[in-house]
Amino acid sequence: MNQILVTYYSLEGNTKLVAEVIADAIDADILRLVPVKDVNPEKGSRYFWGGKQVLMRQKPELEPFHVDPREYQVHFIGTPVWAWRYAPALRTFFHEIDLKGKKIAIFSTHDGGPGKTLAKMKEKLDGNTIIGEIEFYKPLENMDSICRDAITWASSILDGARNP
Ligand SMILES: Cc1cc2nc3c(=O)[nH]c(=O)nc-3n(C[C@H](O)[C@H](O)[C@H](O)COP(=O)(O)O)c2cc1C
Repeated sequence: MNQILVTYYSLEGNTKLVAEVIADAIDADILRLVPVKDVNPEKGSRYFWGGKQVLMRQKPELEPFHVDPREYQVHFIGTPVWAWRYAPALRTFFHEIDLKGKKIAIFSTHDGGPGKTLAKMKEKLDGNTIIGEIEFYKPLENMDSICRDAITWASSILDGARNP
């Protein structure tokens, strides 16, 4: 089994792009969090329904995981910013999977208002060592530079995690 897991949620593909680029660059396993019932990415109302889930602190039911995240020592965890926070699927993940004593790098993708997303993730990940954090602005519109930045960032994190 691989030592590294990239876990992410993505509604519209931005966080998926970054997660896949990172996983590929550092040869990590990947786990996409998929809500059984998600908001419709095609509709303008996604901001309302998604934002409401955040404000109500909802934990949407997720499709079963094909790996056990607890078995990995190094994690990359990524989320889109929703209402200046991490997406609800991450809330479910943090509730269901109690990660402790792991090395964890966190990332978000956003449209210019990252808010407290990474700070809130760090609160949930208390008891682990945060080995890196980064925010990416509109990845699908800035693909080349974002992919380069993501690879550079993830590779340097991994070097640090392997040679502390
Ligand atoms: C429900 C909802 C709420 C959002 N809230 C914010 C926000 O507070 N700040 C921001 O910069 N972008 C916000 N966005 C935009 C997304 O964070 C941004 O487009 C992100 O890269 C989307 O990632 P994805 O394509 O992986 O779903 C929001 C998008 C949705 C659907």
